[in-house]
Amino acid sequence: MKNEINIGLLGFGVVGGGVAKILQDHQEDLCHKLGVPVKIKRVLVKDLTKKRDVALAPEIFTSELDDVLEDPSIDLIVEVIGGTREAKDAIERSLRAGKGVVTANKDVMAESGLELLKLADENKCDLFFEASVGGGIPLIRTLEDGLASDRISALTGIVNGTTNFILTKMKHENKSYEDALAEATELGFAEADPSADVDGIDAARKMVILASLAFSTDVNLDDVYVRGMKEIKDGDLELAERFGYTVKLAGSAKKDEEGIEVAVEPVLFPNSHPLASVNNEFNAVYVYGDAVGETMFYGPGAGSLPTATSVTGDIVAACRNLMLGVNGSRLHAPQHKKKVKDDSQKFARYFHRILVKDEVGVLTKLTAIYSAHGASLATVVQQPEENVAEADLIFITHQISRQQHLDIMNELKETPEVIGVQSHYRVEGEA
Ligand code: NDP
Ligand code: HSE
Repeated sequence: MKNEINIGLLGFGVVGGGVAKILQDHQEDLCHKLGVPVKIKRVLVKDLTKKRDVALAPEIFTSELDDVLEDPSIDLIVEVIGGTREAKDAIERSLRAGKGVVTANKDVMAESGLELLKLADENKCDLFFEASVGGGIPLIRTLEDGLASDRISALTGIVNGTTNFILTKMKHENKSYEDALAEATELGFAEADPSADVDGIDAARKMVILASLAFSTDVNLDDVYVRGMKEIKDGDLELAERFGYTVKLAGSAKKDEEGIEVAVEPVLFPNSHPLASVNNEFNAVYVYGDAVGETMFYGPGAGSLPTATSVTGDIVAACRNLMLGVNGSRLHAPQHKKKVKDDSQKFARYFHRILVKDEVGVLTKLTAIYSAHGASLATVVQQPEENVAEADLIFITHQISRQQHLDIMNELKETPEVIGVQSHYRVEGEA
């Protein structure tokens, strides 16, 4: 029986610093829960000269991965360096050395999760990744344990804190995109390369992890339809508000008898929809189960201590398994063969903002294009209403397939009276 558990912490940035703080501040509680103390034995960083906030003995810091992995007294590795190649290599080496791993790394888990879970299993080790999705919200464990007996048919929600923070600051405080992104970076929400956040890739990776677990199939990044924040054009937030909607970068995953569909894109939510009022770095995810019905999970989606709470939760779970000697007993193999829907099988309502020459007959010509593609329209509005040389036409469709939507977009782009398709969004629910 162990009389203490030693941790090798890879990374001491936003999340790693938070993990060290929680392990220090909550040591007594953790010791009570586990029956033994949990200690950080070594810490891997890139720059040994950097000033660190948490009071840990300087000699436990190293810039050599081997110093951590080859220390036989270390039981568990916590990977919070981020990135892909080096992080994956460190996780693989830890598992091969018989050390369990806790990671917050969605890049690695989305790309190589199945392979690493298998490796963990083969080496009788745990591999936990609660913090990889939803920051401090316990979503992974909810899907794996709480809802394990249900059949999940859909997940929809806000899974990137940075973009939600930016959109909130732009809408409610009139901040520029650049200033809001700089603030999100300063607060430690953004990825090392924030294009992963704003281009929707971070959210797509999280949707890969959630959809794979929820549907028990091997979803990968290529299966996700991704549109990022740059699709949100000047004036769109105000325009959406005028129609009773809020723009959010949202993830969705659905499954029915025809297959699965997974997307990350800017979506218009009616202001009355709970996701419309999820602000700042907060995340929220709806999970629809056949038996449970509708459930919603809400909380801080990024940031030091919230994310570190999920990481330390995993540390507790791994330590309990270590104490009981039952590590590596997780079921990971997908149950279902993947079937991804094509665009003609995915249905939604769409909001189109089209800049046109304000000439007689334009509206008739454009509505005829929608009719020709079998799309019926719920709303048709011109902005501004008075006579000007150019105007935005706003069309909100009833349910159409993504294929119909794309065909209409293509035909509009070829229409001489159309100056440009300004923007287009999927619309959730009724305004
Ligand atoms: P940071 O950039 O703040 O910290 C990274 C840490 O890892 C630093 O201490 C850095 O060293 C160290 N490091 C990076 N590369 C190496 C390397 N090659 N060798 C040794 N040390 C290295 O990142 P975060 O803490 O924000 O993120 C860590 C992980 O957690 C990422 O996978 C991220 O996606 C994920 N995550 C982050 C969240 C957040 O809110 N920030 C939320 C959920 C998940 P040094 O200090 O010397 O520079
Ligand atoms: N950059 C990520 C976000 C961190 O903003 O959501 C949390 O995964």
